[in-house]
Amino acid sequence: MPRALPLVLALTLATPALADGDAASGEKVFRKCKACHQVGEGAENRTGPALNGIVGKAAGTAEGFDYSSALQDAAADGLVWDEASLSAYLAKPRDFLKGTRMSFAGLRKEDDVADVIAFLKTHP
Ligand code: HEC
Repeated sequence: MPRALPLVLALTLATPALADGDAASGEKVFRKCKACHQVGEGAENRTGPALNGIVGKAAGTAEGFDYSSALQDAAADGLVWDEASLSAYLAKPRDFLKGTRMSFAGLRKEDDVADVIAFLKTHP
């Protein structure tokens, strides 16, 4: 069995139906992320990695960013930031990835999660 399979299964079970998000609202939600992340033209790594093209991207691949070993291990196990994994991570970063360096409590509202993902999709 591939090593990433238990993670994938856990995600499938833990993630309720994913709502289609609203990118305009998501841009407002992204203000909470801006303390640490940039996205869009010329985005650079700051406290957190640049997030261009993050939806559908393999985790831990922003060039030159010093990821936690927790994130590096998950990346080695094949973690990809699809809507399911992103939703779980953004709702509760530390539950999803024990030892993550992202010191962010998480987005409590499901709509905010869906909206911010929709916004991130507008920056492929
Ligand atoms: C206090 C700073 C901080 C805030 C606020 C923050 N992040 Fe992060 N984020 C980080 C750090 C640091 C990492 C690297 C985590 C690691 O290495 O474990 C990260 C990693 C990520 C990753 C994984 C990137 C990759 O290349 O694998 C995503 C996706 C992400 N953050 C999205 C968000 C979004 C969306 C928000 C807002 C809802 C947010 N973050 C808020 C600091 C932050």
